[in-house]
Amino acid sequence: MRWNRVEKEFSRFSEKYPKYNLIQEKIAKYLISKIDFQPHRIVDIGAGTGTIYKNINWKVEKFLALDFSKKMLELHPSSPKIEKLIIDFDSPNFWNIEFSNYDIAISNSALQWSRDIGGFLNRFSEIDIPFYFSIFTSRTFQELHQELEISSPIYSKSEILEFVQSWEYEVLDYKMEFSSRLEAVKYIKNSGVSGGVQRVPIAKLREFLIRPGKFPLSFQAVLVIRR
Ligand SMILES: C[S@@+](CC[C@H](N)C(=O)[O-])C[C@H]1O[C@@H](n2cnc3c(N)ncnc32)[C@H](O)[C@@H]1O
Repeated sequence: MRWNRVEKEFSRFSEKYPKYNLIQEKIAKYLISKIDFQPHRIVDIGAGTGTIYKNINWKVEKFLALDFSKKMLELHPSSPKIEKLIIDFDSPNFWNIEFSNYDIAISNSALQWSRDIGGFLNRFSEIDIPFYFSIFTSRTFQELHQELEISSPIYSKSEILEFVQSWEYEVLDYKMEFSSRLEAVKYIKNSGVSGGVQRVPIAKLREFLIRPGKFPLSFQAVLVIRR
């Protein structure tokens, strides 16, 4: 997937995102449950419409919500404690952020879009704060990719694990079942990113969409934690 398209897709479907992020929300809750202290100053990388913020159930003093989609951030909760910053986590500017002013960095379902996940993790690991990241893998939407004979635009589990140093990690698998292929494709689109569907010739997509029967969609994420 072309990277400027990722920003456009999240912005275009930002209004729908909160209703179509069931799995991201489950993963966010699980990721937060793994945090074994109550950090009061939090950075959220790829914060989107605020799934992490909304699921934190302790008092927060300072919350930095970072995202490159202005539209997603507009839908993020606002308060005097929340600072919103429009920034690309792959840009050199990202590294000027004073991360040492925070107790923890969290990122839920965003870093799979990094152009260089290895470089990102490696550089982030030099910053001396705990991090809790969930990263989707290419197994996500695999049924769709197989039937449409396309490859996933995101990293595989093994590509991600290659960069995990001596940190804790966990692989999470989920499945959703849709009443039709059309419903599955709608869900993917509304959740922000079309999963590569836009690369499929329209005739092939039409033929796929009218195939009968229920359709399952897998989701897989790797949690990478450095306490
Ligand atoms: C699937 S959403 C997850 C949002 C939120 N973390 C959640 O848990 O619901 C992915 C988010 O990552 C953002 N994103 C993707 N690539 C980015 C980049 N290179 N820099 C900053 N944000 C990015 C998107 O704009 C989107 O808001």
